[in-house]
Amino acid sequence: MWLRKLQVDGLRNLQGIELSPGRGLTVIVGRNGQGKSSLLESIYMLATGRSFRTRKLDELVRWGGATIRIEGEVEAKSDHSRLKVILHGKERRLMVNGAEKALESYLGRLDLIDLTADRMHALKGSPQERRRFIDRGVVGISPGYLRALGEYRRVLQQRNALLRGGIRSDAAGQLDAWDERLVAAAQGVHLRRREYLERLKARSAEIAKVVFPDGEALTLRYRCSPRDAEKSDPSAFSSMFAQALKRQRETDQGVGFTTLGPHRDDLAVELEGNDLRKFGSAGQTRASMVALKLAKLELLKEQRGTHPLFLMDDFDADLDEIRARAVAESLAQGGFQTVVATSKISFIEAIGVNFDQIHMEKGVAHA
Ligand SMILES: Nc1ncnc2c1ncn2[C@@H]1O[C@H](COP(=O)(O)OP(=O)(O)OP(=O)(O)O)[C@@H](O)[C@H]1O
Ligand SMILES: [Mg+2]
Repeated sequence: MWLRKLQVDGLRNLQGIELSPGRGLTVIVGRNGQGKSSLLESIYMLATGRSFRTRKLDELVRWGGATIRIEGEVEAKSDHSRLKVILHGKERRLMVNGAEKALESYLGRLDLIDLTADRMHALKGSPQERRRFIDRGVVGISPGYLRALGEYRRVLQQRNALLRGGIRSDAAGQLDAWDERLVAAAQGVHLRRREYLERLKARSAEIAKVVFPDGEALTLRYRCSPRDAEKSDPSAFSSMFAQALKRQRETDQGVGFTTLGPHRDDLAVELEGNDLRKFGSAGQTRASMVALKLAKLELLKEQRGTHPLFLMDDFDADLDEIRARAVAESLAQGGFQTVVATSKISFIEAIGVNFDQIHMEKGVAHA
């Protein structure tokens, strides 16, 4: 996948941007506050119709301005499309080859993987953020997963409503029925998360060998709920979860919600066996995130037959010279289009890899 042309105007401080990014590594360089992250944000917006920094689209419009225009030409495996996003106040219009589209049919024309400041929360933040990290990855590989996830959430809500209402004697049978549905829906979520994490684990362990030149091992562990399912065969999940729900029923009734199940899953990312969430240094965490994202990119490539675009903000933040070099080399030689931003170009220049450069100054890009 190749974003071969990009035009942006009116997003934050960006003005009159017209670029033809190369197929390999492009580095956006510039001092603080010049528009580097905004340029990445506009590419993300072109791909997803959303921002990675805010849900409030009207915050993106240039102060005193009215309209944002983002246009791009994408070369995918077999087709070529012209994408356009127009934001006017809170209104968003999405176009493909001149025809207006709803979000669902707009998406999927420019696949990308992004590593931006907020994404680091997946490793350091709440379990919910890690579940979101897993689920996003699974959706990329099998879009039908969204339905399985929605079904689980619906059934869970119903069961919780029943628990909250206090269980009358005639409702115990109802709870049995909801348990059965919950187990079936949970299985759809558990098995897909589990399978995805197995693949991600294998890939990221390989990539970690490059990103951690001292040879530290990166491992993923699916800390699923109920916990005892973690070590058992996937086929045993349903019966295990059904039994756990029974055992836990009194507690659930006491607290008024379901205390076990995939909505309580977590992911442990470990470096040399130590949980990064608790013990990871800033650089270790960031390098691990690079490995996870590149692993995700490879899995998407296997699925779609073409590499997604890779975006990375604040390229050298927290990385020492040796790790930054390892990351830059793997991006430059990865065979996919990458756009990274940094305020310190000397860092990448010193590494000696091939890259194209875009210089940002006061919202204007100079190639
Ligand atoms: N809605 C807006 N309208 C105009 N300017 C804005 C808007 N939102 C943010 N800005 C400004 O746009 C500029 C570019 O911000 P951006 O985050 O892209 O900078 P950056 O080059 O990534 O900087 P850093 O190196 O600090 O990450 C900043 O000066 C910011 O204050
Ligand atoms: Mg920035």
